[in-house]
Amino acid sequence: PKRVRAHHLRAMKERGEKIVALTAYDAVTSALLDAAGVDMLLVGDSIGNTMHGHDTTLPVTVEDMIPAARGVARAAGRAFVVVDLPFGSYESGPEQALATAVRFMKETGAHGVKLEGGERVVEQVRAISQAGIPVVGHLGYTPQSEHALGGPRVQGRDDAEQLLADARAIAGAGAIAVVLEMVPVPLAQRVTEALAVPTIGIGAGPGCDGQILVWTDMAGMGDWAPRFVKQYARLGEALREAAQTYAGEVRDGSFPAAEHGFDK
Ligand code: KIV
Ligand code: NA
Repeated sequence: PKRVRAHHLRAMKERGEKIVALTAYDAVTSALLDAAGVDMLLVGDSIGNTMHGHDTTLPVTVEDMIPAARGVARAAGRAFVVVDLPFGSYESGPEQALATAVRFMKETGAHGVKLEGGERVVEQVRAISQAGIPVVGHLGYTPQSEHALGGPRVQGRDDAEQLLADARAIAGAGAIAVVLEMVPVPLAQRVTEALAVPTIGIGAGPGCDGQILVWTDMAGMGDWAPRFVKQYARLGEALREAAQTYAGEVRDGSFPAAEHGFDK
């Protein structure tokens, strides 16, 4: 199947075709989600929470992201692969942001990067975009700022105009898409109508041009997920049951059986 590219995402918006996105953190999962026809795979800094056992995304480093992005990019034959710039790797200014983005492009095989923030990162978005690197924005609840925002909370209720200005600013600086996280449905709809580039929602209602979820939430790997998540499977339970059955069979001697051994 043909590779999804940045201009396809824009064309999908124009055609009213929804963009399907999920996170991925390794080659195994990337291959499965790519085969399912997911259009965009985000190597999210949510890897800190989902895979590395942190409470927040703040400790995630460039060195954490690189092997994850490599695995996802190698295994995805069709999806557009985007890597998050982690906290501390772009805030200092456009030079730092571009250096991190270039490193990700050279060392991972990903097709674009994502960063958090609006007007405050316009110069970063411009520098990355002008270097020929597709860059995705992220507005609303931005987890790297969770201590300033007071934890996961709906954003833009009292400052809708600021969020709209942020969206216009990063789109104007060259962002190819904007993730909207925990934004009221009518505001997400307004931003979607105001931008020529697609919006990709998470906890932002049905009016966005696309949707993203953290794959472990979507597939029910854990017992809990935020209210805006729908769980499409109970993979966590399935994995625990498989491991329990395996443990039982190893302990009672029924695995390995004759057919699992080599006669010579
Ligand atoms: O890191 C992440 O998983 C994200 C998505 C939730 C948009 O940024
Ligand atoms: Na992220």
